[in-house]
Amino acid sequence: MHSNLLKKARLTEDKKRKEVFPQLPRFHVTGGCGWINDPNGFAPYKGEYHLFFQYYPYDKHWGPMHWGHVKTKDFIHWKFLPAALAPDQEYDRDGCFSGGAVEMPDGRHLLLYTGVRKDQLDDGSMRVEQTQCVAIGDGLDYQKLPENPVIGAPLLPPGNSTWDFRDPKVWCEGDTFYAVAANRNQSGRGEVLLYQSHDGIHWHLAGIPASCTEENGPMWECPDLFPLDGKHVLMHSALAMQASGLEFHPGNGTVCHIGRFNRQTCAFTEEAIQTVDYGLDFYAPQTLLSLDNRRIMIAWMQNWDSSVYPPENLQFIGQMTFPRELRLSGTRLCQWPVREIEACRQNPVIRSDVPIQDEQSLPEVSGRVLDLSLQIRPGEEALYQSFTIKFASAKGMYTELTCYPEKGTIRIDRSHSGFPRDIAHVREFPVSFREGEIDLRLLLDKWSFELFVNGGEQAASATLYTPLTADGITFSSDRQIYLSVEKYDLIF
Ligand code: FRU
Repeated sequence: MHSNLLKKARLTEDKKRKEVFPQLPRFHVTGGCGWINDPNGFAPYKGEYHLFFQYYPYDKHWGPMHWGHVKTKDFIHWKFLPAALAPDQEYDRDGCFSGGAVEMPDGRHLLLYTGVRKDQLDDGSMRVEQTQCVAIGDGLDYQKLPENPVIGAPLLPPGNSTWDFRDPKVWCEGDTFYAVAANRNQSGRGEVLLYQSHDGIHWHLAGIPASCTEENGPMWECPDLFPLDGKHVLMHSALAMQASGLEFHPGNGTVCHIGRFNRQTCAFTEEAIQTVDYGLDFYAPQTLLSLDNRRIMIAWMQNWDSSVYPPENLQFIGQMTFPRELRLSGTRLCQWPVREIEACRQNPVIRSDVPIQDEQSLPEVSGRVLDLSLQIRPGEEALYQSFTIKFASAKGMYTELTCYPEKGTIRIDRSHSGFPRDIAHVREFPVSFREGEIDLRLLLDKWSFELFVNGGEQAASATLYTPLTADGITFSSDRQIYLSVEKYDLIF
């Protein structure tokens, strides 16, 4: 039986999605209407990939959280499914917060999510309780268990916060279920807790793989822990980070620790740490292991500071990044758009070693839904100081990215994209040049760009709400360079 709240959400999305559809990006997941944030429950189920998300179908603002639901076979073509969860129980009446999903050994689909409940106390103050809850279903409809909450205060380390305790990411190894969740300890610092269970319902605390450092913010949200190329990656999204050089910027940031995880002691030994995405809009990623053994990541392509200014002309806010394949190069996490997109490439425009200096466009190189690869090579004279690409450009509006080989950085800047609010629009981040040479790949999809540098050593994503008529692309450099271009339309 579905609650009235879930029925209402399903009716609303049915009604609104048809109207909103023409505005949606072509190959990025959205809620189809209303608001979305974090990806949830990104995992294979019965031969397909399911993705849920933090969802409020009624408005372009965050509200009591539901779980929206889509699925795909190829990470490109997604099918909307009816909302999966609504905040309709005592223990989750203020929100079904982020969590994970897994196919159970008996073929059922288990969702592990955070139930949020707020109570006003006699002195007027607010008491928030976050607990972990289970819903089990068949890939379409889910029942919350009478045993809920399945992980609550008694399973926390003594003195840890019951207020900041959320975002379980669940997986199975053989018959054993594991989940990592975010929490705060007695001294107010964030921690990642590891839980273990034989059935997904009865859990115990197995250990504490990691705790926050001061620079990485007071609370880590949405942790994920997975093996990759002989090591382990512990990833999390930090609230209120401090800036550190060009590696970490202030505010919401997603960080990954690369190292070794000891299952017996639950200790994570860090060998390297990095920003996952250097752009303006990237938060709360989740990964899955694909049916052909690729580690694939998807994230909310937005951040909390920018999300409060939804574009006036669109009837939805929030989208996911395009799914990315992860690999390690030494101790560096590299990411690359899933290879399935290559089958959607059409109308190739290929130009080799075009000399560029003054700002110019190239014939047939324009558009707002495309896959563009660029190779920049210095000219014969002195090394260029800066090479700039402007895109989504027309009538004084544009977004630009500039390569600085001497500084070893790239700067992205959407200040002129038409955004009406003075939030962060610029980031600069470290990249490597090979004597001035660098490779870039840019995916554009109407309201966003995703940049991949040197085969995915760095990625940078951002939303841009420039009118779609702005589809120009130009190139310029302070000294002559040679530019090779491979541009494809993406047809679905
Ligand atoms: C991260 C987050 C999670 C929480 C969810 C609420 O963006 O704050 O910690 O579960 O969003 O929507």
